[in-house]
Amino acid sequence: MKVAILGYGNVGMATFHTFMNMPEIHELVLCGRNKDKIEGELADFKDSLALNYDIKTRIKGGGYEMTAGADIIVYTIGPSIKNHTTDRMSLSKVNIDIAREVSEELNKYNRDAIIIVISNPVDVLVSALMRFTGRPREKVIGTGTLLDSARLRRYLAEMLDIQPRDVSAYVLGEHGNSSCIIWRWTTVMGMPVDRFLSSQIGINVSLSSEKLLEVIRRAGFKIFEKKGSTSFGVAAAAAQIVNAIIHDTHQILIVSVTLNGEYGIDGVSLSVPCYVSSCGASAITSTTMTKEELDALTASAEVIRSNS
Ligand code: 2OP
Repeated sequence: MKVAILGYGNVGMATFHTFMNMPEIHELVLCGRNKDKIEGELADFKDSLALNYDIKTRIKGGGYEMTAGADIIVYTIGPSIKNHTTDRMSLSKVNIDIAREVSEELNKYNRDAIIIVISNPVDVLVSALMRFTGRPREKVIGTGTLLDSARLRRYLAEMLDIQPRDVSAYVLGEHGNSSCIIWRWTTVMGMPVDRFLSSQIGINVSLSSEKLLEVIRRAGFKIFEKKGSTSFGVAAAAAQIVNAIIHDTHQILIVSVTLNGEYGIDGVSLSVPCYVSSCGASAITSTTMTKEELDALTASAEVIRSNS
């Protein structure tokens, strides 16, 4: 399996480092325009490989021609949110323009790889890259609210003093300020979180879903305020998608795909539960959502559409 990572900012490098430890990836390439930066990063990684006999991945770098023959391309190019930014959509225009330029280059060397989009606003860029690279919708996947769903699982797990993997939590819609939590699907051992918590402490409690939603929407920005970037969380989200593709797991992941009438939404990319396999991602449509939940998802789609 050959994987190419486009972009060498914090996110690109965290993703590269995460993927270097995935034994199924035989060749990992770092692609972009700044040759010196790529050479420097590669030399640093090669030093670490010289000290780690277990990693067999061949690592290389260069321009976009290095994407030739890649099975998966991870897109991390473009400016990311700055300190005090409160809306990823502010990056929409600049990053659509960059995606258009990069796609022109990319199309010369690779027309088949599945593209995993990390750059923001991720949902807007999924549609843009699908359009610019002419790929079918299954083959352009955004990390989307896979990260927000993980954050919600972590947050609840810390509160309940259990493991994040023991919490089922689903944040759908925009990876941004219009995301929505499907609270009915947020469970521990099949129990609504409130009920699980009440059963543990012996008194009835009721959690505020609005407050939790606000915490999750703000979570990325809070990390930015403290360290100026986020990278490891989203790199792990990309690794989970890559793993499902490589092993053809048909795993259900909350990722951003372009909808074609599913959930009553057409021509907008946003996160919904998807099957992820070697073919890419396809939205699961047979879910039971209430009118209120569908309204929240539709409202999120409209925010994304108006910024696309
Ligand atoms: C995050 O939420 C910034 O979208 C990035 O970590």
